[in-house]
Amino acid sequence: MQFEVFTLLPEVFPSYLETSIIKRARERGLVRVNIHNIRDYTHDKHHTTDDMPYGGGGGMVMKPEPVFEAVESVLGLAPPPTPPEPESNIPIILLTPQGRVFNQSIAQELSAYSRIALLCGRYEGLDERIRANLVTDEISIGDYVLTGGELPALILIDAVTRLLPNVLGDPTGAEDDSHAMGLLEYPHYTRPPEFRGWKVPDVLLSGDHGKIDKWRREQALERTFRKRPDMLDKAELTKEDKKFIEGLKHALSNTERSKSNDL
Ligand code: ADE
Repeated sequence: MQFEVFTLLPEVFPSYLETSIIKRARERGLVRVNIHNIRDYTHDKHHTTDDMPYGGGGGMVMKPEPVFEAVESVLGLAPPPTPPEPESNIPIILLTPQGRVFNQSIAQELSAYSRIALLCGRYEGLDERIRANLVTDEISIGDYVLTGGELPALILIDAVTRLLPNVLGDPTGAEDDSHAMGLLEYPHYTRPPEFRGWKVPDVLLSGDHGKIDKWRREQALERTFRKRPDMLDKAELTKEDKKFIEGLKHALSNTERSKSNDL
């Protein structure tokens, strides 16, 4: 997998990419991240990448020329008037709060590509012709506005990279993740078996893997039921799962009833 990142702030990226799992994945050639400074594709004395908005109003707007030139030259796309080549299979993703909201299934979808271009917006916005004629997809990392697309690009790179084959030490590492199976993940414990009087649940020390799997599944269901009930509508649930959730609902309505009786 190769990421081509287009940004006005290339200095933001190295420290994160040179750390931990992403660093190892890069060293092992499982992922490559090329950072391209959009400013390098300007041709005027001041290396101008932004300008005032037509029609007035505050803020500056990213100019189209350096962005088109950067992306087209790195991806080997011929600019007009050459007729467009057969559809390039490289998604050109703009990070923007206006995009589809990133989640685990989008991370899975993107992990199937061999090359992805990420365009980080800055200033108040970018010239609409970039969005309309260059970008093929728009992704947001949530309903809030950041100062630019650099952190969202790193988040996307991280979430996609850890899904690539052989990136995680444990080959099943990504399968049990929160969201991967449509549920929040079960709780984890490590040594010591007792800390400040708080004990590790007995079942995890029992060595009975059937019981441990059942406990973990029920914990995942219960956590999801309490924290993110919306996820249960889409999760793949077995008959036993559904029965377990019915039990949780029943217990909850009994507690609510007894609370209202106490008032
Ligand atoms: N740029 C600014 N805010 C953003 C967000 N929430 N997601 C993606 N890119 C952004």
